[in-house]
Amino acid sequence: MDIVEKIKKLKEEKNAVILAHYYVRPEVQGIADYIGDSFYLSKVAVGLKEQTIVFCGVSFMGESAKILNPEKTVLMPDLEADCAMAHMADPKVIQKMRDTYDDLAVVCYINSTAELKKYSDVCVTSANAVKIVKALPNQNIFFIPDKNLAHFIADQVPEKNFVYNDGYCPVHEKMLVSEILEEKQRHPKAEILTHPECPQEVLEISDYIGSTSGIISYAGKSENKEFIICTENGVRYELEKQNPDKKFYFTRTEPVCEDMKLITLEKIAHVLETGENEIYVTDELREASKKPLERMLELAK
Ligand code: 13P
Ligand code: SF4
Repeated sequence: MDIVEKIKKLKEEKNAVILAHYYVRPEVQGIADYIGDSFYLSKVAVGLKEQTIVFCGVSFMGESAKILNPEKTVLMPDLEADCAMAHMADPKVIQKMRDTYDDLAVVCYINSTAELKKYSDVCVTSANAVKIVKALPNQNIFFIPDKNLAHFIADQVPEKNFVYNDGYCPVHEKMLVSEILEEKQRHPKAEILTHPECPQEVLEISDYIGSTSGIISYAGKSENKEFIICTENGVRYELEKQNPDKKFYFTRTEPVCEDMKLITLEKIAHVLETGENEIYVTDELREASKKPLERMLELAK
């Protein structure tokens, strides 16, 4: 029996479902029951009928799924798969901001640990951040951890005062304007589609800025046939699957999230077989970090 058949069989035996982010390896996306961006996956994780969720992504994703579904078993194929940005904020600084600013909302990108979510008023993803920040009654916004996403939102919600944190995604932060322009020279008709975790100078030369599912949906609807994609190279799989007649180019230094790529078919089969790598969140941490996540799901409706 090959590995794909083995996973299918184990899934049935264990009453399990597989969720995967667009950044994981193509063969992992190929066997997933649900593939999407962070917002889609957080919505899908609520209300699944299966008892076990195998989360093919990084740790904050599995942790959020567990927080929203405490009665379910959440398994991570590799516990080492973590998001560096998820740790780039400090509860002491959050408290300092609360002491300094009246009428402050601490807005936490979902790419953060449960420990950071616990100190926040609401979570957002790149797909719903503008809508949620606009809907908040607060005038002052301390946005953690990502400074690049914070600047992108601030530009679209000029009526609010933003306080910036110094976090960033190491994969998107490395995107170079010079390499994007090299591609543009090679493919002058191509539109530049960019994730808002990229630095501001990259956003400034882009034709469209949005979450991974935003980029996929834009490319599908556009009349254009060529695109320069400024985000992690895992999205190529879905872009090419949905648009066989279109061309997608990445920069010479392809953006790769090594943590997402740690997820393999063998590791998925292993956790399904053994039940290893289960995610646990203490009751106290779950109660506190659930509130901003649920508020996000409510405000994003
Ligand atoms: P989205 O899934 O919101 O597009 O975010 C990308 C990302 O970096 C996930 O880790
Ligand atoms: Fe974190 Fe960046 Fe990897 Fe997304 S791409 S999981 S933000 S390190």
